[in-house]
Amino acid sequence: MTDGMEERELMELASVSRNNAYSPYSGFRVGAALLTKSGKVFTGCNVENASYGATCCAERTAVYKAVSEGEREFVAIAIKGDSAGFTFPCGICRQVLMEFSPSLKIILSNGNQEIKTFTLYDLLPKAFESEIMSKKGDGDN
Ligand code: THU
Repeated sequence: MTDGMEERELMELASVSRNNAYSPYSGFRVGAALLTKSGKVFTGCNVENASYGATCCAERTAVYKAVSEGEREFVAIAIKGDSAGFTFPCGICRQVLMEFSPSLKIILSNGNQEIKTFTLYDLLPKAFESEIMSKKGDGDN
């Protein structure tokens, strides 16, 4: 994909990050690994809270870590949940990812280590956009 980073390598980083999930309420762990255009990887896990709505998903943890370190251009995100099937990003995370990279590659893996890929635009067509986003010129959403 970028700098030799392969889909399966990024997925492995997401899987490892899943081990750090703080999910005592749902018992469902999720890990994510976000690859930046500059070739860095930011990982994230879900972080739950006694006040359930304060929970942060793995994908947003990774995005917020990256943005807070000065990165805003993303190439791909790998997502690994505890389920046997593929764990798709929730609607809030899709919108948060859309803010930065409409053409982002979304890499999912199931319990059999099979891989499926999508673009963010596949998963969130006709997204809400602001003029500030469209000035970035990334994608054609
Ligand atoms: N979760 C994620 O971290 N990412 C997703 O894409 C879906 C859901 C988390 C939120 C919560 O901690 C747990 O999974 C169950 O919903």
